[in-house]
Amino acid sequence: VFCLIVTIDGPAGSGKSSTAREVARRTGFNHLDTGAMYRGITVAAIEAGISPEEHSKLTKLLSSITLSFANEDGKTVLYLNDRNVSTEIRSRETSKNVSAYSAIAEVRAAMTQLQQELAHAADTVCEGRDMGTVVFPHAELKFFMVASLEERAKRRLQDLHTETISFDEMAREIAQRDTLDSTRAEAPLLEPADAYRLDTTDLTFEEQVAYIIRKIEHSK
Ligand code: C5P
Repeated sequence: VFCLIVTIDGPAGSGKSSTAREVARRTGFNHLDTGAMYRGITVAAIEAGISPEEHSKLTKLLSSITLSFANEDGKTVLYLNDRNVSTEIRSRETSKNVSAYSAIAEVRAAMTQLQQELAHAADTVCEGRDMGTVVFPHAELKFFMVASLEERAKRRLQDLHTETISFDEMAREIAQRDTLDSTRAEAPLLEPADAYRLDTTDLTFEEQVAYIIRKIEHSK
């Protein structure tokens, strides 16, 4: 079966997730949130007491756990084995640690394979950091979403309902995560040469979604 793959990459808080979710809803595509997968691995590793330096323990952990998405009440949730970890993966602790675990080659190899399997089952909007460059270099349609740091910190603050953190702290943590994700050796955050660049700083949510859907319709 030939499946259409749309990739959306970009830094933290650029609007990838919410946009990808809505584009998928309107087009009937699946939505693959690969950041959630790296966050799931991070939760599993922290709970197992494995630090990012312990590569062989991480490899063992990777082969002993299962990450899967499920649909519950119209929402996509992430399961780590038989436990719904959708809340844990969004915690500040997870956000602070995820870049260290996702820089590891063994972690990326396992996630890349799983992502390719998941996306080849249906038309999919794949969202992350290396979708258009490494995981799906031949995707039909690629996007790179960016926004100012200020705007991204503002959006992430609105996402975090349960934890208190100042605007400056949030901006600092996002900038730090971007630096780690962009400078790592393995599959760094890079703008694909053949991607449409979408600066969402001054766009409304509806404009972002409409732009991508228009391109999908043109490519059919
Ligand atoms: O997209 P989100 O902010 O949830 O991603 C969390 C983290 O997962 C990123 O900061 C990055 O370290 C990692 N990630 C990655 N490759 C992807 C998606 C996410 O390394 N394709």
